[in-house]
Amino acid sequence: MSQGLLKDKKVLITAGPTREAIDPVRFISNNSSGKMGYAIAEEFLKLGASVILVSGPVSLTLSHPNLTFLQVESASDMYITCCMHFEKQDIAVFCAAVADYRPRNVVSQKIKKNNNCFSIDLVKNIDIAAELGKYKKREQITVGFALETNDELNNAIDKLHRKNFDMVVLNSMNDAKATFGYDTNKVSIITSDMRQYNYGLKRKKEVATDIIKHISELVLAKQSIEDILKIA
Ligand code: CTP
Repeated sequence: MSQGLLKDKKVLITAGPTREAIDPVRFISNNSSGKMGYAIAEEFLKLGASVILVSGPVSLTLSHPNLTFLQVESASDMYITCCMHFEKQDIAVFCAAVADYRPRNVVSQKIKKNNNCFSIDLVKNIDIAAELGKYKKREQITVGFALETNDELNNAIDKLHRKNFDMVVLNSMNDAKATFGYDTNKVSIITSDMRQYNYGLKRKKEVATDIIKHISELVLAKQSIEDILKIA
């Protein structure tokens, strides 16, 4: 079903971690490999979509005539880059593991270990998905991820509502060989009409296919609504 529906669709994908500078040689980051986001980008490209991949620092590469690759470092770089493109997209998939906090001040010279104790004052980063979710147009589709350690389903549903997603992909840190670094993942997909689809452990490429199948269904549903509104 995905083939024709996604051809020429414009898709924005965030992937990988962000890096929040402490000083010129140190940063705060996380273990995101970017594999899930890149697999989703690859799958969309195969189906004829045009993809803008906004990626934090990862060791992966992807090239395709319909791919615009935009490398970023920090959460605020990622936010500014997404803001420049979001409005024109049909679909946005927020796959990045964005750092929740950044150092309040970035020190311009390397910090010396002069003291036995050292602390960094952190301030909250902007929530890219939630912020863009506020400006989402009726015909746009946004998809988020929820990586949870406990109370997984409730937390994922909370993110779905809070960030105005059409669909959320839930990863549990309690599942073996899923999440960060692995080539495999185990997800549940929850759509905004509260339908839940549970999948087994699969290669990230196959998980991307499952995710895109659900996105195609959302595209079809939104197109039907737009057609009805045009007639009315
Ligand atoms: N996200 C984002 N910008 C942020 C934080 C998260 O765009 N600053 C997106 C992620 O890409 C993901 C979703 O929001 O699609 C949920 O991310 P997650 O880290 O699970 O949730 P948080 O909102 O950070 O909540 P918490 O860390 O409290 O669980």
